[in-house]
Amino acid sequence: MLLENKIAVITGAGSGVGRASALRFAEEGARVVCADISLDRVEETVELIKKAAGTAVAVKADVSAEADVIAMLDTAAGNFGRLDILYNNVGIPTPRLGMRLEEHTVEDFDRLTSVNLRGVFLGCKHAVLRFKQQGGGGVILNTGSVAGLVGWGGTVYGATKGGVHQLTRAVAIECAPEGIRCNAICPAGMPYTGFMAAGGMPAAPEVLEQAAKTTGENHPLGRPITAEDCAEAAVYLVSDRAANVTGVLLPVDGGYVAR
Ligand SMILES: NC(=O)c1ccc[n+]([C@@H]2O[C@H](COP(=O)([O-])OP(=O)(O)OC[C@H]3O[C@@H](n4cnc5c(N)ncnc54)[C@H](O)[C@@H]3O)[C@@H](O)[C@H]2O)c1
Repeated sequence: MLLENKIAVITGAGSGVGRASALRFAEEGARVVCADISLDRVEETVELIKKAAGTAVAVKADVSAEADVIAMLDTAAGNFGRLDILYNNVGIPTPRLGMRLEEHTVEDFDRLTSVNLRGVFLGCKHAVLRFKQQGGGGVILNTGSVAGLVGWGGTVYGATKGGVHQLTRAVAIECAPEGIRCNAICPAGMPYTGFMAAGGMPAAPEVLEQAAKTTGENHPLGRPITAEDCAEAAVYLVSDRAANVTGVLLPVDGGYVAR
């Protein structure tokens, strides 16, 4: 059990990467606070964990709101006594997939930055405060994107993820003396999560099949990325097996950025 006795908070745990990671963290022995803006969805995640004999609690939180982020971390301390791991996983897509730079409004820009970048900033800030108060270090993992590593389309979205990557490295360096590690995973196209639907992709099976085919063809390994691929990378990075790994931006991308 790689995460035995660890207390973890995961944001966006109601769907996709967040749900898959919550299930894997619990399977590895972590007690997990599952946070999401949708309480219904995150309660479903907690049910799945409990059915598999794991320990988890659900909390409704909007990661762009500081009071919610503080309350979410309080839930970890209140239920389980401390915080060992924060996984800042929430990210929202461009309002309409394929949107070009000049089509974005200021409101689109503000919404993307407030959730994708401010959300990660708030998570990092309040986790670091707690880790310092508790003593003994701590672990932060962020979800970035290949769209923050290379030009990929989704210009403003990519810029928010580039910000997440830089925040990850800066927190890693600044907090290394306190034993706080901070890394990110950078996934490529994942058509099977809720993300593309949130970007306006119709839910029809033939559309999903086409999206899976197209994203798979973009990746040298030839298949789309899954939430479970990301969860495996996440388990490693938050575990003590990665005790000497910090400031890393790990592509989970089937070789996409190496090409
Ligand atoms: N799906 C992809 O193609 C892809 C590719 C690269 C990176 N990513 C990144 O992976 C991460 C996870 O995405 P996913 O594909 O699992 O998406 P998803 O849409 O399946 O899950 C995102 C979850 O975040 C929640 N959420 C949205 N806004 C929130 C807020 N303000 N506060 C709290 N919760 C909120 C949603 O309710 C949802 O449950 C995101 O950071 C995303 O940017 C996704």
